[in-house]
Amino acid sequence: MEVVPPNLLKSGAVEIAKIMKTISGGNVLDVASGDGDFIAMLIDTLKDYESFTGIDSDKKEMEKAKKNLAGKSVKIHLMNAEKLRFDNNKFDLVCLANSLHHLENMNDVLDEMKRVLKPGAYLIIQEMFCDGNQTEAQKTDIALHTLGAEIDNMLGIYHQKTYTKKTIIGIIEELNLREFQVYESSRYVKCLFCSNNQQCEDPLNENLIKFVIKELEESIVQVKESSEYDRLLKRKEIIKQNIMKYGSAPASILFCIGRK
Ligand SMILES: C[S@@+](CC[C@H](N)C(=O)[O-])C[C@H]1O[C@@H](n2cnc3c(N)ncnc32)[C@H](O)[C@@H]1O
Repeated sequence: MEVVPPNLLKSGAVEIAKIMKTISGGNVLDVASGDGDFIAMLIDTLKDYESFTGIDSDKKEMEKAKKNLAGKSVKIHLMNAEKLRFDNNKFDLVCLANSLHHLENMNDVLDEMKRVLKPGAYLIIQEMFCDGNQTEAQKTDIALHTLGAEIDNMLGIYHQKTYTKKTIIGIIEELNLREFQVYESSRYVKCLFCSNNQQCEDPLNENLIKFVIKELEESIVQVKESSEYDRLLKRKEIIKQNIMKYGSAPASILFCIGRK
């Protein structure tokens, strides 16, 4: 880890990284891996590990993960998390990051994650939340995400808006994990290993704002034929004004960990 910028240092990410450093991952399964971001973070933070397996139901994301994790010993499978093709009690660590609100049949996925986890082994769920003491820049990110979720749903892609802390904890409590702990951070743990992490210290950073506004414009264009377009366009303009005024910073995350 390089020198950690001040805001990142006090975000909560360092505490989570310290916990990760105490865990021997063994055979790790990351569910809904997307482009492999969370696996990369696990590789950087776990005390040690034997193997990594990542699964996702989106072929394009899996191809990105293969590319991003090339050279690292990670098995990537196209698979629906509602029906994992793995034996019971197979993995030493099972994770799900930034995906709870993307799961159409969330309980089926969580049951499957628990089924393939060895008794006594760790389950980790990381998820962004919308409430609590977040900055105006983070609130613009949450508003952006709410708009993105609505647009996805119009396109037939299941996407819930950002959950509250209470909802996330309630969902995970249902799993009856032992030694269940919840940590909070206003930055991602992966930022500790990002060479650009200084840039995100300033939510009004020009490049950051350009990037976020480009994403916002690209997402709204997808529904330009819809009868809802004018209504969404007005919301987009308000969000854009707030991004230019307050900047943009990712919503805070909960990092939930417990044993089966
Ligand atoms: C926001 S991405 C998170 C990716 C990654 N975990 C990360 O932290 O960057 C959510 C992912 O959930 C995946 N997903 C949604 N439902 C799924 C399911 N039933 N089975 C497997 N993957 C699923 C999507 O394809 C998408 O890649």
